This record gives sequence, C-alpha cells and structure tokens, in this order.
Amino acid sequence: MDNPEVERIRKVYQEYREARRQVLWRQENPGNAAIYRERQKAAYEMLGQAGFLPLQGKKILEVGCGSGKVLADLLEWGANPSDLYGVDLLVDRIEEARVSYPQMHFECVNAENLPYPDEMFDLVLFFTVFSSILDAQMRQNVAREAIRVLKRGGAILWYDFRYNNPTNPHVRGVKREDIEGLFPGFILTLRTVTLLPPLARRFGKATPFLYPVLRKISFLRTHNIGLLVKK
Ligand SMILES: C[S@@+](CC[C@H](N)C(=O)[O-])C[C@H]1O[C@@H](n2cnc3c(N)ncnc32)[C@H](O)[C@@H]1O
Repeated sequence: MDNPEVERIRKVYQEYREARRQVLWRQENPGNAAIYRERQKAAYEMLGQAGFLPLQGKKILEVGCGSGKVLADLLEWGANPSDLYGVDLLVDRIEEARVSYPQMHFECVNAENLPYPDEMFDLVLFFTVFSSILDAQMRQNVAREAIRVLKRGGAILWYDFRYNNPTNPHVRGVKREDIEGLFPGFILTLRTVTLLPPLARRFGKATPFLYPVLRKISFLRTHNIGLLVKK
C-alpha cells in the first residue's frame, strides 16, 4: 500500500507493540477497570436511549478494530457474532481477531475504502481511531466511507481523546467541532468520560472512592463518548 499515512500508522503501532505499551491498559489495574466500566455504562445508556438495544439482528462494523475486543463486548448486549464486522490496517491484530472470534468477520484494509455495500450497517463504531490519524485527508475519507456504509437512522458510536497527549506525538485529540465537521448533518449526543488515565491508574485499592469523586472535575475527563445518528 503506497500511502504515507498508512505506513506511518503501521510503524507507530509496531513501535507500541515492541514497547509493550498495551501493558498500560491491563484490566488488572483497578483504574483501567473503572475507566472501562464507565465507558461501557455510558455507551449502553446512549444506545438504549436511542432505541438500539438489544443489539440482536443489528449489523455492526468497527473501524480500526485492533484485535476485536471492543466488538466482542457487544455480544453481552445481544449482538449475533455473525453480524459483527471489523476492519483494521494491522495484519497481526486482524489475525489475532480471527483466531479469538472465528464467527465474526475481519478484514485487513484501509478504511478509506471499505469492502461493503452502501447502507449495510445499523451501527459503525470508532473507538480511539481518529486520534491515531494525523492526516486530514485520511480523516475525511474514512468518515465519508463510514457514512456511505451506514443505513439512514443508523448511528456511529464514538469514543476518543478530546485532548492532545503531551507524552505521545503520534496521536491528536478530536474536539466536538472536529466530529461535527467529519459527520455533517448527523444528530450528535456527546458526553465527556475517562478520568485522566495516568492519574486513575495510580489509585490502586482506593479506586472505588477516588474515581467517582475526581471524575466530577470536567477538565480531568480526557475522552468524548457519543452517538451520531444519520438522518
Ligand atoms: C488505538 S487503536 C484502537 C483499537 C480498538 N478500536 C480499541 O479501542 O481497542 C486504533 C486502531 O485504528 C486503526 N486504524 C487507524 N487508521 C486506520 C485506517 N485508515 N483504516 C483501518 N484502520 C485504521 C489502527 O491500525 C489501530 O489498530
């Protein structure tokens, strides 16, 4: 694939893997587990309020699915494995996903060109994907493809950083205005979640007390979670 942004993203994720950055996100850390529970609760509430639950019979695509865990979590909310699709640029992550979840469908492709017909999906998920894409043209192309494959009345479920990360030059925060620009005409419901991860991970046994208190300080919430409905 002769696309410099594709090559850049692949190189960055290879470096993450070599640096074992995934260790940071282990669920054994109580702070990470609290971040996960808060995100799942918000996603469940938003999907429920918009009439998408249960997920049985809904066709769902995750763009930038990595090894498929976010998608697999949807099984708990009634999704059928054969209705779940994931795409990612990274060959090794897609291979892992296929081994872990053989009933789901995974493709190693650039989401600027999705191998699916128009209006195939009820839901398209973007979980920390646009923050990994620094090239404005790729962001536009990926958004346009997601809009194409989404049914009218369908929705995008969004979760991503809203701030830049001063310790990681390979990601860029995505603000509300950016989301509105990428998906014009969509009905957007957005909330802020996720207590600053490097802080939340330090709480240890005090997490059940500290997380709910500190998450009330809005500037400490680093991510947006949202639902964008296609009219
Ligand atoms: C931070 S990871 C998130 C993985 C998963 N969504 C999760 O939340 O665990 C971002 C993923 O987006 C993928 N990605 C970025 N740009 C992409 C593109 N143009 N096409 C397909 N995948 C892309 C990356 O390869 C990476 O696996």
